[in-house]
Amino acid sequence: MEIPLLDLKAQYRSIKSEIDQVLSKVVESQYFILSGEVASLEKEVSDYCDVPSAAGVASGTDALILALRALGIGKGDAVITTPFTFFATAEAVSILGARPFFVDIDPGTYNIDPDKVEELLQNMDPGTRRTVKAIIPVHLYGQCADMARIMDIAKKYDLKVIEDSAQAIGATYKGKKAASFGDAGCLSFFPSKNLGGFGDGGMIVSPDASVIEEVKMLRVHGSKEMYIHEEIGYNSRLDSLQAAILRIKLKKLDAWLDARRSIAEKYNEAFAEMGIITPMVAEENTHTYHQYTIAVQDRDELLEHLDKNGIAARVYYPVPLHLQPCYKCLEYSIGSFPVSEEKAEKVLSLPVYSELTGEQIEYIIRTVKDFYNK
Ligand SMILES: Cc1ncc(COP(=O)(O)O)c(C=O)c1O
Repeated sequence: MEIPLLDLKAQYRSIKSEIDQVLSKVVESQYFILSGEVASLEKEVSDYCDVPSAAGVASGTDALILALRALGIGKGDAVITTPFTFFATAEAVSILGARPFFVDIDPGTYNIDPDKVEELLQNMDPGTRRTVKAIIPVHLYGQCADMARIMDIAKKYDLKVIEDSAQAIGATYKGKKAASFGDAGCLSFFPSKNLGGFGDGGMIVSPDASVIEEVKMLRVHGSKEMYIHEEIGYNSRLDSLQAAILRIKLKKLDAWLDARRSIAEKYNEAFAEMGIITPMVAEENTHTYHQYTIAVQDRDELLEHLDKNGIAARVYYPVPLHLQPCYKCLEYSIGSFPVSEEKAEKVLSLPVYSELTGEQIEYIIRTVKDFYNK
């Protein structure tokens, strides 16, 4: 049996008639950029996330860059984040001329450890400490970081909070949605995300209308009035076709997330007592399982065994950001963040999506079990 890591063709087949209808409507209109479709999606996503305002941009990476910039982060500033994330989180900081400071993760949730954020801030010399302007918690794999602690620290040290919610739309922490806690929340609509378009796309949500107003100016070359440029901005707009597709998919999102959760439960049950570390969901969280990620000793052998048996699995992420070649200049080394380094050697994400059939789920479970029963 061949099982892909994600079956977007099956998802498309399940909503084809609705999608084809809106695509043809947009094509008929010939309004392709920042149309009414984008404004409607912004309203629907801000309602969904329970945050007052939103701005669509060209990608999740741009969402981070524009949010940071709209919040005043730039050259000479520093931003605290996790090394156990997709590269874009720190890249956005660096692109703006700011410096990422990494702190290690919680070994259970894989999210940034608030104790270590506080420890870093307390141990910094006052000069460096003054350059720290923000924290970017990443809600990795679809589960929120400890937002109450992070918001408390941010308040104490007067820092902005930008939630990297690229993997976590729909996740909740103490009943409140991901992206609704900080000064800005950043979403990615990359095709493989839980809410994915047919190309790149992203969105920033914020409780502060002036942040969204600034983002809306930055995304069109720093211009409010056509051909008058207040700032050097970007070309980072969301396409109408993407927005129309995403509006259809948003209506299905909660059902898709429920299906992911029920598959995760089946995996959890099957893998209990096998020496496999299954995802730990913090008490205050609901997980959205953007990834169903296990941690195992003999990860690479298991990966090979799954591959041989037709199951696509993947490692998110094999190299923590402090060990990336481009961040040599930050002078971290092996051992700087031991929890992230250990997890990078042990984690493995299995297929998890609503279109997985019962037979496929059983096959994945059986194949994993076979590996341990050899
Ligand atoms: C945690 C995280 N941050 C940021 C991004 C960047 O999003 P995009 O690929 O839409 O630019 C991603 C997506 O891959 C991500 O997983």
